[in-house]
Amino acid sequence: MMFGKVARIAGLAVAGVAMVTLAGCGGGSSSSSSGAASSSGGSSSSEASASSTPTAPATPPAPPPLTDAQKKELLSQLPAAYQNADLSNGEAKFAVCRTCHTTAQGAGDMIGPNLWGIFGRKAGSEPGFSYSDALKNAGWTWDADRINTWITNPHAVLPDTKMSFVGVPDANDRRDIIAYLKTQTSPPPAS
Ligand code: HEC
Repeated sequence: MMFGKVARIAGLAVAGVAMVTLAGCGGGSSSSSSGAASSSGGSSSSEASASSTPTAPATPPAPPPLTDAQKKELLSQLPAAYQNADLSNGEAKFAVCRTCHTTAQGAGDMIGPNLWGIFGRKAGSEPGFSYSDALKNAGWTWDADRINTWITNPHAVLPDTKMSFVGVPDANDRRDIIAYLKTQTSPPPAS
């Protein structure tokens, strides 16, 4: 009864299924079942050659998350304005940077260079990354204020930079991004 109702509602689709089901159950009454002739043919049983050993994942294991005390310790190494940065806003706003940059140690370059150790690193000095001449020859060492000016508008700082990014207009967002960047690119302090 219920079945009938459903069948009526579902219409053709159910009818189609029903037909298939019936054919299957009917023991192949419908003509040429190809069975007998070729049934016992040796299934090609050779096991797939074990040539491909699974390769180890390329990314190193993620380090344990920083404690609040460690984050605070790292922020205390930045100028006063960064002490009360909003790290979760920084993480959210850093998403745009992540399209081009990794931050973890040894995580490799993408469109932009890996940023591990960026605080205190000489501009344009990540080995193996193909920088613009402009950044390679910039001559400064990155600190919070330099990064702040940089991400306000990279092309205003170096017109020939390869960093194709318009910049972060909001000063609080920049502060939060830089504070977050500090926590992500520095060796964890002993807690
Ligand atoms: C579209 C890709 C892209 C985005 C988005 C981007 N960057 Fe970059 N970034 C680059 C490239 C490419 C370079 C190298 C520039 C050059 O060689 O002139 C660079 C360079 C840098 C450098 C200097 C690195 C060094 O080794 O001297 C810093 C710091 C930096 N970016 C931070 C950021 C931050 C923070 C953000 C987000 C607010 C960001 N970038 C967004 C591509 C990007």
